[in-house]
Amino acid sequence: MCGIVAYIGNKNALPILINGLRRLEYRGYDSAGVAILNNGEFLSAKSVGKIDNLATKLNGQDLAGTYGIAHTRWATHGGVTEANAHPHADCTGKIILAHNGIIENYRELKEELGASHTYKSETDSEVLAHLIEIYYKGDLRKAVLEALARVRGTYGLVVMHSDHPNTLIAARMGSPLVVGIGDNEFYIGSDASPMLAYTKKVIFLDDGEVTEISREQMNTVNLKDINVAKHVEEIEWDEAQAQKQGFPHFMLKEIFDQPTVMADAIRGRYNLADGIAHLGGLNMSLEQMHSVKRVVLIACGTASYAALVGKYMFERLAGIPTEVDVASEFRYRDPIIDSQTLVFGISQSGETADTLAALKEAKRKGAFVRGIVNVVGSTIARETDGGVYIHAGPELAVASSKAFTNMVAALLLCALQFGRINKLTLATGQRLLNALQEIPEKMQIILQQSDKIKELAEKYQNCRDFFFLGRGINFPVALEGSLKLKEITYIHSEAYPGGEMKHGPIALLSPQFPVFAIMTKNQLYDKMRSNIEEVKARHAPIILLATEGDDKASELAQDIIYVPPTMEVLEPLLNVIPLQLFSYHLAVALGRDVDRPRNLAKSVTVE
Ligand code: AGP
Repeated sequence: MCGIVAYIGNKNALPILINGLRRLEYRGYDSAGVAILNNGEFLSAKSVGKIDNLATKLNGQDLAGTYGIAHTRWATHGGVTEANAHPHADCTGKIILAHNGIIENYRELKEELGASHTYKSETDSEVLAHLIEIYYKGDLRKAVLEALARVRGTYGLVVMHSDHPNTLIAARMGSPLVVGIGDNEFYIGSDASPMLAYTKKVIFLDDGEVTEISREQMNTVNLKDINVAKHVEEIEWDEAQAQKQGFPHFMLKEIFDQPTVMADAIRGRYNLADGIAHLGGLNMSLEQMHSVKRVVLIACGTASYAALVGKYMFERLAGIPTEVDVASEFRYRDPIIDSQTLVFGISQSGETADTLAALKEAKRKGAFVRGIVNVVGSTIARETDGGVYIHAGPELAVASSKAFTNMVAALLLCALQFGRINKLTLATGQRLLNALQEIPEKMQIILQQSDKIKELAEKYQNCRDFFFLGRGINFPVALEGSLKLKEITYIHSEAYPGGEMKHGPIALLSPQFPVFAIMTKNQLYDKMRSNIEEVKARHAPIILLATEGDDKASELAQDIIYVPPTMEVLEPLLNVIPLQLFSYHLAVALGRDVDRPRNLAKSVTVE
């Protein structure tokens, strides 16, 4: 995720900005830049790669000044290049800005701005600088407000103007911004970590707020230019906590990120009126899409469980036979692949060696090869002929959480796009999209049960074995829940389709062998209920995941976690969250290194 640092005050800005960027490195980035007002004009430097490259470039340059912006970029639109690094300027070079987020309608705005504007980058962010330029008539705050009124998307934004050396504008919509208060000076950051060395007094901007800052004061308004009262907070976090925005671990922060990044994953990628998804990045003509007779989903670990959910979605929504292959097995089993096969490589990091090798094999055999990845510009993103970025933001905890749900959302949109050029009706497409729009809010409802799930997890902390059961589209959710438990608590766990227990595994059940069963209201509810009755008859403790309002669930178990209802094909987006929280809290109770579990790497770049 990008990082912003800005300063307006009486100290030399450069060291504050560069040190501030270093505090934001944890967010993940691929380039960096800085701009400082020096003798009435902005001097800037940008570099690809680490901040050290930027610092080296700055050695010897006289970027003296007390008013400046710095940025670390995590590419979303446009490749990893110096030109695409922020800050960006307008045509005059008098307006500069740094931006976090996605300007969804940047193409339309760029078209409207017309050929009179010259651009130095491929980014959506630079368009915003030119939009402010056309609205600027001497009042920078008003120009920013008018420009933001035209924008659809998300932003954490800082804007400066060389003719206003005592004015900095900051605005927030969906990407956090924090203002640190000093003595006749202000610090701005994507979180509090860049300013903690100078001040603990901060103001957190909220969505829809624009604040005008001078060395003497700050004044905040909403998007209608009406004053908003803000209160100063004294934060007690240390730097590490600030990077986790107050959460004790990156993993918990990323579990709680899911409603926000889910909205990012689907934003601008569907049309409700037509009940369709439109994923331009798939880079397939209608004729090519119609030629696809089989889909193969290739991945590892958590991504392979997202792929299993994708199988249900493609077959149910698009009516296309779909297989899932663990990448490390795919190329050694003589796969039947041809020019009518669409192969997706699914990967958070986009660097997993097994997945990359499998995709190369599929390409050699003439398949359509596409990626569903999180890291823009990653090897898999570059090696495939298109695909879908999942927009989950950097996932720093080794155990995946938000990447899983965003991968599933991306697969859903792909299945919908194929389904609607085949048999899927307008009504079903609209019903699906209406239900999808409600998912972020329903995720929030589940996250509010975190403390309850914590108590439940602690109750089971002495268990040494677990089963996770699910049926249909929830079986992959059981697999993911079981992997989470193994990865971060080091407790043995297995996942089975509910109907499979009686074919052997049930021999293991005992009062010391709990079973976590997903029994949400769907077409397999009654079947799952009978499987759980088989478990109950062996006196194994049962933890149930049930749908709100299912008052019969308590006949089977005392420990029940309720989730909101949704369409069956969307259930994995909700049902996985209690399993993530259960494993997280159990790992914390056991004193595990939750963010860096033993033996694991975030990206397995060896076969
Ligand atoms: C997820 O919790 C694991 N850390 C691991 O299974 C991971 O999903 C797998 O290594 C694939 O990684 P990728 O998504 O980056 O390709």
